[in-house]
Amino acid sequence: MLDIFDRIKENPGPLGQFADYGEGYFIFPRLEGPIGPRMQFQGREVIFWSANDYLGMCNHPEVLEADAKAAAEFGMFYPMGARAMSGETEQHLQLERELADFVQKESAYLLNFGYQGMVSTIDALVGRNDVIVYDVDSHACIVDGVRLHAGKRFTYRHNDIASLEKNLERATKVAEENGGGILVITEGVFGMRGQQGKLKEICELKSKYQFRLLVDDAHGFGTLGETGAGAGEEQGCQDQIDVYFSTFAKSMAGFGAFIAGDKEIIRYLKFNLRSQIFAKSLTMPMVIGGLKRLQLLRTRPEIKAKLWENTNKLQSGLKERGFNIGDTNTCVTPVMMQGSPVEATLLVKDLRENYGIFTSVVAYPVIPKGMILLRLIPTASHTDSEINETLAAFEAIHDKLVGGHYKDQEQKLLAEQGLSFKEI
Ligand SMILES: Cc1ncc(COP(=O)(O)O)c(C=O)c1O
Repeated sequence: MLDIFDRIKENPGPLGQFADYGEGYFIFPRLEGPIGPRMQFQGREVIFWSANDYLGMCNHPEVLEADAKAAAEFGMFYPMGARAMSGETEQHLQLERELADFVQKESAYLLNFGYQGMVSTIDALVGRNDVIVYDVDSHACIVDGVRLHAGKRFTYRHNDIASLEKNLERATKVAEENGGGILVITEGVFGMRGQQGKLKEICELKSKYQFRLLVDDAHGFGTLGETGAGAGEEQGCQDQIDVYFSTFAKSMAGFGAFIAGDKEIIRYLKFNLRSQIFAKSLTMPMVIGGLKRLQLLRTRPEIKAKLWENTNKLQSGLKERGFNIGDTNTCVTPVMMQGSPVEATLLVKDLRENYGIFTSVVAYPVIPKGMILLRLIPTASHTDSEINETLAAFEAIHDKLVGGHYKDQEQKLLAEQGLSFKEI
């Protein structure tokens, strides 16, 4: 019989295999100083493009004050119980009312974390006779929620409406045979490459197929739409989204999340979400701090306008310099280049250590082999000079990449130090 620890030691997993090479640097990098467009990394200042702090709320003085006041009044962890047992407060209910209003839904319910909340929402919405149809590039929280489903599930090709329709036909047959229904799940914004989910086109399919739509709008909430209500508002179909979901981990610069929709459905979810029924309530500083953040989202449209001004400068600057930023139509800014995983690490090291630019880097298997993807998240706090410095640095490292600089370094490293990089 196998000892499961032996298996684990032999196969540390898709990320674990990089632990010896990159921990603390490429993966689990340790940044210091207050969150902002300039942070400290490995003893030097870097321009930081890797925080999902779109609206610069993390260090907004009014937010800091509200959080601190709430913590001083209630302590960090009030209330001490699950919502259903002893953790419900008037402030929780108020935040839910205000969130529902903000995303143009009847009702909302708070979740402790986005990831767990989404897993549980999917679990609570479907029964074994129902069919789930979801975008193949969905976030892990959707994939893991679907894993709990005891019934049929189909994926459709990423943002491909013809593929969705084909799968809706299959799903309709299965659901009719089983006496179940269909739940379609997509993201409002795909966080890695920045495309909006084609919500409008998905909603149009409702006239032909019977299904309910659940949208994870983690990156759309606060950044898209006239009022910041997200990708559905941006595309003019917010009212067609049956269950709207967002985390507080991005525009709200906090933690926690929420779902919103029709009163009756949210009430059902309130009484059936296992991630909430069996877990401690979202704490008071986050709830009161959440009210302050939401107030800023509502009353300071200039913050979102500045985010978009910065996004447009960064994205047009990259495009003018010939960079491939794919088909992003959101603030998420991917920069795609060709190179091996070792070249990617050397390039990122160069960018951080010699140009003082910190971005996230994504490698195979998240993206195809041979591709390097650097992801930049512009925020309302970045300045013109930070954007210009970054563009100049990108130009320089790209010249080095195509000139074979990192390839030469790779060969040298492999030869001199016997360094190996396990190809996956
Ligand atoms: C699209 C998407 N959904 C869900 C989550 C999970 O949210 P949380 O960090 O609140 O668990 C994230 C990451 O924050 C995300 O990017």
